[in-house]
Amino acid sequence: MNDKLALPVGTTLDRFIMRKQEDFPFATGELSQLLRDIALAAKIVNREINRAGLIDVTGAYGQQNVQGEEQQKLDVIANIRFIRALRNGGEVCAIISEEEDEIIQTGNLKGKYIVAIDPLDGSSNIDVNVSIGTIFSIYRRVSVAGTEGTMEDCMQRGTAQIAAGYVVYGSSTMLVYTTGHGVNGFTYEPSLGEFFLSHPNMRTPETGTIYSCNEGGYNSFPEGIKNYLSYCKENGYSGRYIGSLVSDFHRNLIKGGVYIYPSTAKAPNGKLRLLYECNALAFIAEQAGGKASTGKSRIMEVEPTELHQRSPLIIGSSEMVNKVEEFIKAEV
Ligand code: AHG
Ligand code: MN
Ligand code: MN
Ligand code: MN
Repeated sequence: MNDKLALPVGTTLDRFIMRKQEDFPFATGELSQLLRDIALAAKIVNREINRAGLIDVTGAYGQQNVQGEEQQKLDVIANIRFIRALRNGGEVCAIISEEEDEIIQTGNLKGKYIVAIDPLDGSSNIDVNVSIGTIFSIYRRVSVAGTEGTMEDCMQRGTAQIAAGYVVYGSSTMLVYTTGHGVNGFTYEPSLGEFFLSHPNMRTPETGTIYSCNEGGYNSFPEGIKNYLSYCKENGYSGRYIGSLVSDFHRNLIKGGVYIYPSTAKAPNGKLRLLYECNALAFIAEQAGGKASTGKSRIMEVEPTELHQRSPLIIGSSEMVNKVEEFIKAEV
């Protein structure tokens, strides 16, 4: 954590970003602007989500995305809002999104950054008024400025992320992000239209007693995962599973716990997307003192080979992730 400047609870997100930039004398302010663009889009999406049920934004959009999922109207709305904000902001040359088949070129050829985004996470929970989220990763382009973004720019390992974050649209709306100097959380005050620092320097407990897993797939889970789940039950752990990765992750980050999405018969490489979901949360978990694994290796070191690549994900308190890995190792 860069603690040259400890900012008090109640600092606005804009001021926080500005003051953090002062810690880096050669920073140009472009990353700060990009983070502000994401926060603005999050406020707009928050507004749409809060009106769901009153205006016609719930339900299916009537098309499948490249993941083979039925898109919800809010998946499409959030995707449009984030892309528009990033295009208008000018700092990003290319975007990859869970909802788009191919790279989106913003036309900002001089933009230094690439954004990978899951615009709306947990879309099956929209219509039932349960917490949902947004997940984003920011990378520096590796191609020369002045040209369009390339596949190589977009297919960087998680270790190359320069910032990552999520928004949880929950009982209150929060934005949590890292630039590799610790994790900070901001709570949205809707009447003022501002995010305020509410969770400075977030640290996750080293261990906990919550496990989060959709056990519907149990019969096709790897043996090591089945054995770990038995271990959780033998030890009287609590099972907690919302079905919105952001919300499950956020709860476990604060309380201590482990989230597990293993390979299943339906999803042999797991369900979650390496570039839109796993890497961003892995960066945040590690920055908060936690861990993220495929079950066999560190998530952030996986070499991406496809835009929409999936990976098993075991993420949360470090001791619990280690334990799952031990069970996986012991399975053969
Ligand atoms: P998305 O809504 O962005 O497609 O993500 C859905 C993900 C994630 O949010 C959640 O944890 C998981 O899918 C739930 O999957 P199951 O319904 O298979 O448990
Ligand atoms: Mn989806
Ligand atoms: Mn998702
Ligand atoms: Mn999504």
